[in-house]
Amino acid sequence: MRTFTTTLKELTPLDIRLLKIIEHHQRLIDFTPLETIIEYMKKSPYTVEDLLRKLHKRKLIEYRSFPEPAYRLTFFGYDMLAWRFLVDNDYVVAIGRKLGVGKESEVFLGQSADGNTVCIKVHRLGVRNFRYTKRQRQYIAEKPDLQPIFESRISAKREYQALSRLHHTINVPKPLIQNRHIVVMEFIDGIDLYKVKKLEFNDAKIILEEIIDAITTAVIKHGIIHGDLSEFNVMLTYKDALPYIIDWPQWIDLSSPNADEYLARDFHHIVRYFVKKYQIRPQLSIEELVESTLSAARSQKSEKMTQLTEEE
Ligand SMILES: Nc1ncnc2c1ncn2[C@@H]1O[C@H](COP(=O)(O)OP(=O)(O)O)[C@@H](O)[C@H]1O
Ligand SMILES: [Mg+2]
Repeated sequence: MRTFTTTLKELTPLDIRLLKIIEHHQRLIDFTPLETIIEYMKKSPYTVEDLLRKLHKRKLIEYRSFPEPAYRLTFFGYDMLAWRFLVDNDYVVAIGRKLGVGKESEVFLGQSADGNTVCIKVHRLGVRNFRYTKRQRQYIAEKPDLQPIFESRISAKREYQALSRLHHTINVPKPLIQNRHIVVMEFIDGIDLYKVKKLEFNDAKIILEEIIDAITTAVIKHGIIHGDLSEFNVMLTYKDALPYIIDWPQWIDLSSPNADEYLARDFHHIVRYFVKKYQIRPQLSIEELVESTLSAARSQKSEKMTQLTEEE
């Protein structure tokens, strides 16, 4: 954490410019040749090489000597660009302790300019479990050559998109800003459902109903299926035990192939948890839940179509 904030403070505008040049080229050519960097920096080779040496020493960039000297950003370098943006634009004025390391992210506490506590989620794909990621996430499996930092950026974008669409209708963290692979969102003062020791039977019953209701509403009103729902991606607020559904980057559009299977799997995972721990199950079976959600979504869609035709 110390290296992290110190590095952020020590970076000069020239360092940032250099990192951005490498970032820009990296999307197309992975490693950017030294010559290109010198050309774009419009500085003497001596100055540029000096800067590169400094950034390399701080592990912000990687070096490759063959077929020509070239550089690319590390995750740390990419982090710095995103943090810099968030701090310079006052989205985040302080970075606090780490809330946790998820399977594909690091999550921090932060403070926004208006004094609110925020949650900062740094997406990190391809760092821990490469295979799992590719299998889970259709949108990335379609782009096999994408580098981990850009996969993570897409992941953050998708999460921001889902949260933006959902937060008015169901309990999800309100998104504040996304930059590169980082999403800043409302901090949920609560606990992960899987960490909750024991709930009262009646509370557990209500919570399961609320979760199913949220999942159903996301599909019916927005055509969004979570795609990775389980007790690991639900938080309960400390204050009134309201369930919030978190972790949305892998969401699936209702119109995509096998959407019904993803929805069934989400229902199955969450119901399995409540059956096992509290012997509670919803009134409807998983098949009935899927069927009723899908038919409600279809009639909502045709209602919208009729409204549109009438307006024409
Ligand atoms: N908005 C939030 N407020 C508070 N804690 C959060 C928030 N979002 C995530 N967390 C914490 O960080 C952990 C990991 O976040 P999550 O979005 O599930 O990412 P991952 O894909 O890595 O599992 C969560 O289990 C939760 O404890
Ligand atoms: Mg999670």
